[in-house]
Amino acid sequence: MKGIILAGGSGTRLAPVTLAVSKQLVPVYDKPLIYYPLSVLMLAGVSDVLVITTPMDRPQYERLLGDGSALGIRLTYAEQSSPNGLAEAFLIGADHVGDDSVALILGDNIFHGLGMSDLLRRSAESVKGCVLFGYPVSDPERYGVGEADDDGFLVSIEEKPEQPRSNRAITGLYLYDNDVTSIAGRLTPSARGELEITDVNRVYLERGQARLVDLGRGFAWMDAGTHASLLEASQYVRTLEQRQGVRIACLEEIALRMGYIDSDQCYRLGQRVANSEYGRYVMAVAQSGFDGGASR
Ligand code: DAU
Repeated sequence: MKGIILAGGSGTRLAPVTLAVSKQLVPVYDKPLIYYPLSVLMLAGVSDVLVITTPMDRPQYERLLGDGSALGIRLTYAEQSSPNGLAEAFLIGADHVGDDSVALILGDNIFHGLGMSDLLRRSAESVKGCVLFGYPVSDPERYGVGEADDDGFLVSIEEKPEQPRSNRAITGLYLYDNDVTSIAGRLTPSARGELEITDVNRVYLERGQARLVDLGRGFAWMDAGTHASLLEASQYVRTLEQRQGVRIACLEEIALRMGYIDSDQCYRLGQRVANSEYGRYVMAVAQSGFDGGASR
């Protein structure tokens, strides 16, 4: 399975912070926002990832993450010239997807919870149609909203409905079979002028091939789209990290646990930023001799 992180958009809701810095590079407590969605893909076993950014922001992403080889993965970059909709990711990324299945994750979405990596790896194993992840929220009208039948198949989906039919928001992580590139190619822009991910998902719904997997009480899902939600996300990460002494979305640790790099490589990555607590944590993880058996 290939991966795509969509990290474009103009970030206008976070201005003036985002006048000079891409939204998905702003810090969530101790690391850039994009680390969180990248960690989700890595934990799902996806190691070939296309990062889609604006033309202006691309150099910063390349400087931060490089070609991924330091983490034992492959990272490539593409540009979205303007925010024409989430589904445009499949047109921009068609060559990257090739004849594989694909996981799309929004660059501002943070997922965390016990059993997340197992759930992802199981869901990603053999995708027929699409797999969406639902999360109960108190303000569903802000999101894509779905309903599923008793077998977990999607029976309705709406984008930001005024009268939501359920409280299950569709989160910004989507798994698709290879048909998604041709489905996206047939879309026309919505009333707001975007190629809508919800229209892609509706095609799979009509085929009876859209699964909606619930992320229940044990999970946290946040989209860091406003100043308040960014702060909440930072506080969540800080609380867990300080209390438990572990780090969420530490890419070097995940690469080590997934077997993408060995302890020596991990240690050297920590050394590069040894002046920070993050760097010292990476070195300590490497020294603990942990190899294999990913978890978080
Ligand atoms: O976060 C989950 C929600 O994401 C879903 O529930 C909705 O169904 C889905 O439409 C989307 O809603 P948002 O209102 O959050 O979409 P937004 O336009 O804010 O875009 C989400 C992120 O993707 C944001 O960080 C900017 C980036 N983006 C957006 C568009 C439209 C791009 O990189 N390119 C784009 O063309």
